Amino acid sequence: MRLPLIVFIASLAFAAAARADGDAAAGLKVYTTKCKICHSVDASGKNGVGPGLNGVFGRTAGTKEGFAYSPAMKAMGTVWSADTIKAYVANPKDSVPGNKMAFVGIKNPDELENLMAYLKEVTK
Ligand code: HEC
Repeated sequence: MRLPLIVFIASLAFAAAARADGDAAAGLKVYTTKCKICHSVDASGKNGVGPGLNGVFGRTAGTKEGFAYSPAMKAMGTVWSADTIKAYVANPKDSVPGNKMAFVGIKNPDELENLMAYLKEVTK
């Protein structure tokens, strides 16, 4: 009886530690269900309905070559980081008025954290 309990407690501790930084595997699911239809993340940087997100961390908003951004996004001037992407994706319509990303937003902070962990890994 004792060993399974220890394993259980250890896995709980691991799950909690993973959550603090975001869980990239869970983030993959968020990306697949909510972003993939419009955004690529791989090294091709391919633009679709939305700009390719390869290299997005550290990039200035609205500057991916070959993508026709809205004037609002081009004028934004923000440098994308986990914090600025989270603020945008949580509420695209209100955080950048006039932008053309037709996405309702993600309110769940864990989902946002997991999504950032995934995007950081796959877009670098
Ligand atoms: C329906 C298509 C669509 C969906 C779904 C979508 N986006 Fe977008 N996204 C866009 C478009 C279009 C733009 C460009 C907006 C503009 O120019 O105003 C954009 C812009 C962005 C940008 C700014 C990129 C840059 O180069 O400045 C980020 C970051 C972003 N999206 C992240 C996400 C994430 C993360 C998700 C999933 C949670 C997501 N988007 C879901 C269409 C989408």
